[in-house]
Amino acid sequence: MKYEAVIFDLDGVICHTDKYHFQAWKALADKLGIYFDETINNRLRGVSRMESLEIILERYDGTLTDEEKTRYADEKNDIYKELLKQMSPADLSPEVKDTLDQLRARGVKLAIGSSSKNARFILGQIGLGDYFDAISDGNNITNSKPDPEVFVKAAEFLGIPAGKCLVVEDAEAGIQAATAGGMDSAAMGDAARYHIATYDMDSFADLLNIV
Ligand code: BG6
Ligand code: MG
Repeated sequence: MKYEAVIFDLDGVICHTDKYHFQAWKALADKLGIYFDETINNRLRGVSRMESLEIILERYDGTLTDEEKTRYADEKNDIYKELLKQMSPADLSPEVKDTLDQLRARGVKLAIGSSSKNARFILGQIGLGDYFDAISDGNNITNSKPDPEVFVKAAEFLGIPAGKCLVVEDAEAGIQAATAGGMDSAAMGDAARYHIATYDMDSFADLLNIV
C-alpha cells in the first residue's frame, strides 16, 4: 500500500455543491449589479468565503467597508445553507461510497480537508456525518488553499506523516496546497486539466489503483 491515508476535498470531490455556491453568489452579485458567470465561479473553487467575495468584487464599481463585506458574505451563506437543505444521501454517488468503503476495508485512514465552514453540515446531509476518521475544515484554519494548512491539520488529526498521505482535489489551489504540504495529490474534474497533480483521475474509482 503506497499511502496510509487519503485526505479528500469535499466540494467537487465527495459531492457537488458547486451549483448551490453558484446560485447563492449569483443572487448576491445580481443584487449588487455585478456580472458573474460560471468561469468566475470556477475561480472560487477551494477558496475561502471572504476571498471568494473579493474575487466577485473585482467587477464592482464601488467600495465596501469590511463590515459591509462581512454582511454580504453572511447573506450569501444564508442563501447557500438554505439550498444545502435539499441535499440528501441521494447526493452521494454509489461509486464514491463504494470506493470509500473499499479503501477503508484495506485499512486506509480517510479524512476530509475542506476550506468550507459548512463541511460538517454537508457531510450530515449526505449521510457521512460520522464516516471520516478526521475532519479538517474552514473552522480550524487561518489560511485557506493554496496554503497547505487544512491538509497539514488533517494529517496531524490522523497522526500520519505528510509523505504517507494522498490528497484528492478538484481545485488547482487544492493541488498547490497538497504539494506545498509535502503530499502527493490526485486531481479530478477542473484540477485534472492543469496536469500539476501526481495523478490525474478519470473517475473516483481510479483511487483504487492509485492508493
Ligand atoms: C470550498 C469551496 O470547499 O469552500 C469554495 O470549493 C468555497 O468554493 C469554500 O468558497 C468556503 O465555503 P463556505 O461553505 O465556508 O462558504
Ligand atoms: Mg473542491
